[in-house]
Amino acid sequence: MTALANENVQEDREFSMDDAAFKTISEAIYKQAGIVIDETKRELVYARVVRRLRALSLPDFESYAQLLQGANAVKESKDFINALTTNHTRFFREPHHFEFLQNTIIPYWKKRAKFTGNKRIRVWSSASSSGEEPYTLAMVLADAFDRGEGWDWKILATDIDTNILNKAKQGRYDDLGLEEIPPGYKARYLKQNDDKSFIVNSELKNHITFNRLNLHSAWPIKTEFDVIFCRNVFIYFDPPSKKSLVDRFAKTLSNDGWLFLGHSESILGDRSPFKLVGRTIYEPRHVERTI
Ligand SMILES: C[S@@+](CC[C@H](N)C(=O)[O-])C[C@H]1O[C@@H](n2cnc3c(N)ncnc32)[C@H](O)[C@@H]1O
Repeated sequence: MTALANENVQEDREFSMDDAAFKTISEAIYKQAGIVIDETKRELVYARVVRRLRALSLPDFESYAQLLQGANAVKESKDFINALTTNHTRFFREPHHFEFLQNTIIPYWKKRAKFTGNKRIRVWSSASSSGEEPYTLAMVLADAFDRGEGWDWKILATDIDTNILNKAKQGRYDDLGLEEIPPGYKARYLKQNDDKSFIVNSELKNHITFNRLNLHSAWPIKTEFDVIFCRNVFIYFDPPSKKSLVDRFAKTLSNDGWLFLGHSESILGDRSPFKLVGRTIYEPRHVERTI
């Protein structure tokens, strides 16, 4: 959109948003969540943040920008971040990832267990949005491991957005969102409600812990993960943030683990601690597999 077109849009708008207010908002979301918002996202910022102006009865974006710089900034932070995150997701999104899990990783774990007795599996869905990704992982893992063979598997599902996490915890989805789920999984792990919505059964839910976690803050994580999903969130971050995250993932992943990114995301480079083993699937550069 040209500058002129932008101005015209502004004239018709209920609230004004001058350059300084836009700059303050984009700097604040970068500082708080690592999300990069450039000039081309002005309309998006307006459409998302206008809800906060209405909720707080503020007259314009300039007042909201002042709030973000004042004493109440910390109190506003959660709602501000929630307004600006993009949560699009789907069950079995990028199905080749789940095929790799099923056909390569799970057989490896089963073989490894025969040699080492290790039946403990930890998976992290690190930008889990409304839950479709961790529940998909859970369906595939439950199918492989819930047969009374003593497997101990758990999924940590985290996201920065508290509203979307609440939705994820409920595990309730309308029928439109479920088309991608193979019928066998649907019958086993979802229950249909009277209003046509579905709810994930407690057998799956019991394997998942949902928590708020900002990828750019401290990670209160003590465990080493066998698999980390960090899909379709790197696209919002700049190169230095991505590099720092990749190094932190390398430290959090076991030596024989796998890291999954989204379809348009790549972390390769001379000094990357990972190498590519499948479409946006990585393993540690110096992988140590026991079998
Ligand atoms: C587009 S969704 C991707 C969901 C899922 N991983 C997928 O691929 O379908 C991106 C998610 O990243 C979350 N997010 C954005 N910035 C984040 C941050 N700094 N820390 C943690 N999560 C973040 C958003 O709240 C959103 O739910």
